[in-house]
Amino acid sequence: MGQIELKGIRKSFGGIDVIKGIDLQINEGELVIFVGPSGCGKSTLLRLISGLVEASDGQILIDGDDVTGKPPAERELSMVFQSYALYPHKSVRENMGFALTVAGMPKAEITQKVDEAAATLKLEDYLDRKPKALSGGQRQRVAIGRAIVREPRAFLFDEPLSNLDAALRVEMRLEIARLHQKLGATMVYVTHDQVEAMTLADKIVVLQAGQIEQIGTPLDLYRHPGNLFVAQFIGSPKMNVVDCTGTGTALTFGNGNTSDIARNAEGATKMGIRPEHMALCDANDTSDASKAILTGQIDVMEHLGSDSFAYVNVPDVGLFTVRIVGHSDAKEGDMVGLHFASGDVHLFDASEKTIPA
Ligand SMILES: Nc1ncnc2c1ncn2[C@@H]1O[C@H](COP(=O)(O)OP(=O)(O)OP(=O)(O)O)[C@@H](O)[C@H]1O
Ligand SMILES: [Mg+2]
Repeated sequence: MGQIELKGIRKSFGGIDVIKGIDLQINEGELVIFVGPSGCGKSTLLRLISGLVEASDGQILIDGDDVTGKPPAERELSMVFQSYALYPHKSVRENMGFALTVAGMPKAEITQKVDEAAATLKLEDYLDRKPKALSGGQRQRVAIGRAIVREPRAFLFDEPLSNLDAALRVEMRLEIARLHQKLGATMVYVTHDQVEAMTLADKIVVLQAGQIEQIGTPLDLYRHPGNLFVAQFIGSPKMNVVDCTGTGTALTFGNGNTSDIARNAEGATKMGIRPEHMALCDANDTSDASKAILTGQIDVMEHLGSDSFAYVNVPDVGLFTVRIVGHSDAKEGDMVGLHFASGDVHLFDASEKTIPA
């Protein structure tokens, strides 16, 4: 239960195409995350699945049933929004059971289902409180509880944690991971948060301008982005990208430096390298293990405690972010070398597609 299939789904609002033909298979029990820039159509796609928005074209199947024209209630999905929209005058118990009450379920059964959901979400002690007497995280749990009691075929989450502070987001992220394990339910989840996407998803769908750029596991997308957009969208801080010219196995940078990277570089016009795959080295280092491939000057240093970020300006090439684990004594103004392994380099052709290694 909970298999969702989108076939050629399109949506336009007043003549403007917002969703431009989406084919997507969401398997039973999978946690699938939609990511992409603001306005790319993540919420619209989720609403199309839920039935809150009607498709202009295409088909939506849930467990093989064509639900394309069906209203939300007949799709048996539960949606959890960023704004929890709890009824302020109802208790937590009443809020959680409301949909079941409306559906005419016997009281004893509702009590049992609410108690079960409350136990899963650690809300037992709060069932008699009103929403205003709860913290943000507790309110979000009530909103999730309200979805759970309906025993939907799948859960749809639209940025459920974005109203919470950083610490609470981490806590709730773990709770959602546990909930997914426990319920084994299909979940479709929209988020802006890189860490949420990387840690929670079985499968990430990267969207841009109403189209799918790439689908894959978090590590697939991190290691093998199919194009420049995905390469820069997945990973934080984002991948450094500079212009280059690839011929044979060599890359030539804007400052004239050439580096042999021992793989096909033919046709490359851009090189990407992640901040965590770069290291600072002595500008004059020529040893293989830590050779300076480019040299530049540190523009800004950021010390985060666990990590340090060096922003290194290489004239005529670009600005690189270098992630250093732990503390670094490097300081603004230092001349430094930049080392990276050729195996960590991503190459892109003129159409911004990845050149396979
Ligand atoms: N009811 C509507 N009428 C007209 N345009 C709409 C409607 N709903 C969404 N849009 C437009 O569709 C596009 C996609 O919106 P959507 O809310 O799906 O983006 P999103 O990816 O969820 O963005 P965000 O990350 O900011 O939440 C936007 O340009 C938006 O203005
Ligand atoms: Mg949205």
